[in-house]
Amino acid sequence: MPTKPKSPYLPFGDQQTAPWYGKNILSVRQFTRADLEYIFSVAHEMRVMVERIGTFDLLKGKILANLFYEPSTRTFASFMAAMQRLGGAVIPISEVRYSSVAKGESLPDTVRTLACYADVIVIRHPEVGSAALAAQYAGKPVINAGDGVGEHPTQALLDVFTIREELGRLDNLTVTMLGDLKYGRTVHSLARLLTRFDNIKLHYVSPEVLRMPRDVIDEVAEKGLPQEEHLTLDEVLPETDVLYVTRVQRERFDNLEEYEKVKDAYVITPKTLEKAKEKMIIMHPLPRVNEISMEVDKDPRAAYFRQMEYGLYVRMALLAMVLGKA
Ligand code: ASP
Ligand code: CP
Repeated sequence: MPTKPKSPYLPFGDQQTAPWYGKNILSVRQFTRADLEYIFSVAHEMRVMVERIGTFDLLKGKILANLFYEPSTRTFASFMAAMQRLGGAVIPISEVRYSSVAKGESLPDTVRTLACYADVIVIRHPEVGSAALAAQYAGKPVINAGDGVGEHPTQALLDVFTIREELGRLDNLTVTMLGDLKYGRTVHSLARLLTRFDNIKLHYVSPEVLRMPRDVIDEVAEKGLPQEEHLTLDEVLPETDVLYVTRVQRERFDNLEEYEKVKDAYVITPKTLEKAKEKMIIMHPLPRVNEISMEVDKDPRAAYFRQMEYGLYVRMALLAMVLGKA
């Protein structure tokens, strides 16, 4: 039996005055570099604890409401696993059509209901701003697990944590985002979050109709980061440290013919990677449809499965923080 580590080992406490206690996590805009370093240090400790003892009772007695109006595998399951690994419990609502949402209940009322039973609410919803709206009514911390084409802040946190763990640095990087940059909320959050680091260069590779939205480009430009848009990957791959591939977001298209035209715009194969650096990583928020061939999975640079695991530790850290235990 492994022995239980003594409490001074961890940066966990009981102070309800902890800086993140009771806070919402709605957008990456709210994080400073110092916040990120803090989150990553807690996430790292979570990783050590999971590897050592698997589950521990930091959030015993606490309840998470996992409220998902859109499909999810990773975010839903990793928040659930995160809460359970910390000894807490979960109210899982993964199919709102079986909840009173199907009877016409509004988002504010649904959230006020769950706030009666839970200590923290994780929400995924198809509309931009939905998590912020939920937060106005909840009176409990709300965590945005994806609001339409808006943001996916916890994904961006785990993406940056992945880069740090895999490449050992967060400064001096060329990051290339590829695919559906228009509708992909993960790249909207990631581009914004990368402005917290030094000497980052961003390349955006997408079909003309799926370019990075102007408001994200303007926000990143304000922080002084160089950004370039491209139609093909070839010209930027040799200098890329992080290749961040995304799925074309079929569910966001009004016209499916338009989707058919661009759905296979880029497919990463072992051949594509011939021109890539030896020390680079390929990331993907997942799910993947066709954008990365399965032959790439065995390349050591393919970090997307490890990226999912890092998500568990980051989400454990976030839950502990907003519940005043980190
Ligand atoms: N799972 C991510 C999201 O929900 C990416 C994707 O679905 O393509 O935004
Ligand atoms: N990356 C991500 O959000 O995956 P899910 O849509 O499966 O939650």
